[in-house]
Amino acid sequence: MCKIGILGGTFNPIHLGHIKIALEAKKQYDLDKVIFLTSGNPPHKQNQTILDGKIRHIMVKRALKGYNDFFACDWEVNRKEYSYTLDSLMHFKEIYPNDELYFIIGGDSLRDFDKWHKPLEIKKLCTILVYDRDDGSIESDFAKVIKGEKFDVSSSRIREKIAKGEDVSKYLPAEVLSFILRNHLYQNVPDFEKKLKTMLKPERFSHSLGVRDMAVELAKIYGCDVKKAEIAGLLHDNAKNMPDFMEKCKDLEVELDEIELQNPALIHAKLGAETAKCEFGVSDSEIIDAIRWHTIGRTEMSLLEKIVFVADLTEMGRTFPDVKMIRNYAKIDLDKALYECVKSSVRVNKKDNKPIHPNAYNIMKEFEKKINKKP
Ligand SMILES: [Fe+2]
Ligand SMILES: [Fe+2]
Repeated sequence: MCKIGILGGTFNPIHLGHIKIALEAKKQYDLDKVIFLTSGNPPHKQNQTILDGKIRHIMVKRALKGYNDFFACDWEVNRKEYSYTLDSLMHFKEIYPNDELYFIIGGDSLRDFDKWHKPLEIKKLCTILVYDRDDGSIESDFAKVIKGEKFDVSSSRIREKIAKGEDVSKYLPAEVLSFILRNHLYQNVPDFEKKLKTMLKPERFSHSLGVRDMAVELAKIYGCDVKKAEIAGLLHDNAKNMPDFMEKCKDLEVELDEIELQNPALIHAKLGAETAKCEFGVSDSEIIDAIRWHTIGRTEMSLLEKIVFVADLTEMGRTFPDVKMIRNYAKIDLDKALYECVKSSVRVNKKDNKPIHPNAYNIMKEFEKKINKKP
């Protein structure tokens, strides 16, 4: 039987205080391992803009390098649903049915514990450990105390300091700090257009403005969120001129398929989805998906994804032979326009001897059916 500690957190970003809590918990309660559980969509933080879970999880992994008994877990990050502690504990109980679970929380969380989702059920599944970072004042009739030292650090203060350009090296593991700095996390970006201009070549920047305008026009026609269309259209190519983009893909753990590796011009879409989160702080998953799928598309596309895909090929700066025809379709039948966009890209890629992504054929098959069903 093992004693497994679980330290849940937003980890936005993970800092040395979190590591200290885990080290003390492990030492004082003789834990065999500690799992750092990065939260996905915390129910109590719904109104805040939180850095995407995948990026937070990457930082947790970097922070835990060298600690053999500490593990990063992205189970909550990969779930679409809200993350309640009880769900996660039931998940771990399933994986470790014969082991003892210790759920580690801070003093603040202990005070609110009764307001958590089904606190009695939680208590049945695990021992609660509470970290006392103050003066030994924490008392509880159900939680066991981890005696700790006071440490003067919180993720929100670290974020504020980074945005002001202040030194935060004493609060963060070195690998986390370098990841934050090279990917420009937690910067306030009041003007996306201004920043984008510094990232792109002039012709790519003016194409981006064209895609933004076309996306906004189409969003108005089809009743899509105009603000989201504006941001996704503007940022869709943000990674297009990124130097060392393969390095960047590795750093941000972008998974590429075979066709993308054969045709690197496609990669900027998936990479751009990640860099939009980092460089611009975009956390809206619909915007991120519209950026991610703007080159290869997919059969199940949201309205915003279709709009950005079509806007990319029909913005006013495009001059290829069929563009006028597709532009006209775009304003009356978005599916038909999307089908024609894909057909036209396939034709161009075939002519240039470039590999065709299987998504293109799937989209054509799927959308042909959709178009034919329409009256
Ligand atoms: Fe693109
Ligand atoms: Fe583009």
